[in-house]
Amino acid sequence: MPKYLSRKAKSITPYTAGAQPKAKNIIKLNTNENPYPPSPATLEALSGFDGAALRLYPRPDGGELRATIARTYNTDISNVFCGNGSDEVLAFAYDAFFDGDIMFPDITYSFYPVWADLFDISYKLLPLRDDFTIPIEQLKANGIVLSNPNAPTGIAIGLSEIETVLKSNKDYVVIVDEAYAAFGADSAAPLVASYPNLLVVNTLSKSHCLAGLRVGYALGQPHLIDALMSIKDSFNSYPLDSLAQKIASAAISDSQYYESIAKKIIATRERAAEKLSSFGFNVLPSGANFVFVSHSAFAAKDIKAYLESQGIYVRHFDLPRISNYLRISIGTDEQMDALIKTVDEFLSK
Ligand SMILES: Cc1ncc(COP(=O)(O)O)c(C=O)c1O
Repeated sequence: MPKYLSRKAKSITPYTAGAQPKAKNIIKLNTNENPYPPSPATLEALSGFDGAALRLYPRPDGGELRATIARTYNTDISNVFCGNGSDEVLAFAYDAFFDGDIMFPDITYSFYPVWADLFDISYKLLPLRDDFTIPIEQLKANGIVLSNPNAPTGIAIGLSEIETVLKSNKDYVVIVDEAYAAFGADSAAPLVASYPNLLVVNTLSKSHCLAGLRVGYALGQPHLIDALMSIKDSFNSYPLDSLAQKIASAAISDSQYYESIAKKIIATRERAAEKLSSFGFNVLPSGANFVFVSHSAFAAKDIKAYLESQGIYVRHFDLPRISNYLRISIGTDEQMDALIKTVDEFLSK
């Protein structure tokens, strides 16, 4: 046993993020980043930032960004919480709302069990159906975490299904993680006013082309936001840094640009999905900026290895039920053309 380490540090299995290869000229379709740059207005906020202002701590309540998000959602600042990426927001939410016996699907964002282990929260996995849809009526526990659209399947559910989950888990918090909702799911944000147990979590990493900025947020009724604040203030009493707040505020205010980017990605996704289907892939219906695919005649691992040898990176999860699937992020049209051409080469070898 290694000396000096806590029991937790000795036992925890951390989340493994997708590779960030250093080589230039690769096509990176493995971590669901947005292939387009942030909007001109967002980049102006960066270049126009008064660096001397970094001398001061940001306002402890994170007022500037929270106010912008509240305005965008037509709600109050007391309904908004911000964090260093939605990963941090989700981690605080586990600590704020869950004591154990929570539930999430067996195939979902692989960080969900990691936070449960980190905070000693017991959990049950709800097996998805064979077609990877969620048996909604079986989601009943002392806390629920749902990604909508789900990851890595990409399959989205509707607001009526979210409401069913909220109603059958009235006494517990239901977290709806909307990291990919901009690409094909209705946001549950309008339900916040009616459901005191709903926490909607979102991120600027995918829809707003800002994975490197690390900004995520949550929307919920004030009693939930206050609890998140208490947990955060017991961990790090300052909010997101002033620069991130400034850039994120500019991005969130420029919805027209980001909505048009999302539309472009959806069109590219549909085109790529059609092409991959014509090659014999099973392509799950995606509401996200990625597709989840498998081929009955070729092993996912072999396809991935060939793509990688040609400088194209996609994600493979060596996990039960999905080990023959690849998750392919949607890049630009040119990047997807290169992917399709290389897959075609592999299949015809
Ligand atoms: C379902 C889901 N939720 C949350 C996140 C975290 O996003 P971030 O921490 O960049 O906001 C990811 C990232 O890949 C994700 O796939």
